[in-house]
Amino acid sequence: MKVPFISASELETITAQFPTPFHLYDEKGIREKARALNKAFAWNKGFKEYFAVKATPTPAILKILQEENCGVDCATEVELLMSRKLGFTDIMFSSNNTPAREYAYAREIGATINLDAYEMIAFLKETAGLPETVSLRYNPGGVFALGTEIMDNPEESKFGMTHDQLIQGFKDLEAYGVKEFGIHSFLASNTVTNDYYPELARQLFTLAVEIKEKTGVELSFINLSGGIGVNYRPEEVANDIAIIGKGVHEVFDEVLIPAGLGHIKIFTELGRFMLAPHGLLVTKVLHRKKTYRDYVGVDASAVNLLRPAMYGSYHHITNMTNPNGKIEVVDVVGSLCENNDKFAKQRGLPEARVGDTLVIHDTGAHGFSMGYQYNARLRSAEILYQENGTARLIRRAERPDDYFATLYGFDFEK
Ligand SMILES: Cc1ncc(COP(=O)(O)O)c(C=O)c1O
Repeated sequence: MKVPFISASELETITAQFPTPFHLYDEKGIREKARALNKAFAWNKGFKEYFAVKATPTPAILKILQEENCGVDCATEVELLMSRKLGFTDIMFSSNNTPAREYAYAREIGATINLDAYEMIAFLKETAGLPETVSLRYNPGGVFALGTEIMDNPEESKFGMTHDQLIQGFKDLEAYGVKEFGIHSFLASNTVTNDYYPELARQLFTLAVEIKEKTGVELSFINLSGGIGVNYRPEEVANDIAIIGKGVHEVFDEVLIPAGLGHIKIFTELGRFMLAPHGLLVTKVLHRKKTYRDYVGVDASAVNLLRPAMYGSYHHITNMTNPNGKIEVVDVVGSLCENNDKFAKQRGLPEARVGDTLVIHDTGAHGFSMGYQYNARLRSAEILYQENGTARLIRRAERPDDYFATLYGFDFEK
């Protein structure tokens, strides 16, 4: 069972006010999550979560995280612009394949630049110039495993630089006069285990000791990046950030303290873990259809939530109007001219009748932000369910004039 953060009657009040589909975010849950993370890492002086803006690039959400002492991690110039405009001062720029202009802007606003490639050291030096602080992104190659379980395949990943490039990189940076250094690594995505961060930390802490021995460089920070996952499936057990923080602490004491590196600050760049469970995609049943399968057609589609169509990801669905209806096996589909526009395939759900309100769970991260406009389906609204129980529109739904706004030689008013 997955329990939505809002009751059916409270949601009815909101759907009476705002047309579906929309993304709904839970302010209380977001704040509690940020506080739990900061508490779990309070043992580390200088700990900072740089929330991955790409997960939920919505100013009202970023403001909440800012109030909870989080910084931001940006990947593009526009994410940097938004963060700057929101008054963030702790900004990480973890980009890849980056244009010179974006590095220049990152430097201008004082963001910490995290270089994805060894080649980018020379590129940055020749273009925007090297700042006082530089971080390098590490890719150890091979596979990333926890025990016998393979979690991901860094060797096939386009991100980061090799071990030898990283060591050489620090030598180069020091010779060029850079003063402060960090490392960053993202080796597995959506890990539903409390062991990912401690294992990643062990690899990165060991590397920090080696960097000190081989180059004389003492890192100032280690960025564990994103990758802590969420229990999208009801049978999965949610990660426990207190256990994760304790696990990283133990490795810190074991590896870094004896090496005289106890000053190193731990950074994170979590997106999914921070926001996914605190967002719901709210949609209504438009039609039923019966052919070789039974279909429930809803007013949301893959443009509002791409993950199921793109990765075959599971998102739990609750029928808020008819939770105790007779279970039937259905496909829940949107209206795109694409057969992968399905939120659920052959899933047992309580009977979904035309007009029923369904919520699709865990859509608060990499949900709205991965949206697009295929078939001229427009982006939905985003609504904040505030701590005081009221709903606030934080992004209106797109209108046709937004869709036409970038066109030349076409005036739809005529
Ligand atoms: C560089 C970087 N940092 C952080 C994140 C956030 O990852 P997650 O949402 O899995 O925590 C991402 C996700 O793509 C990323 O690319």
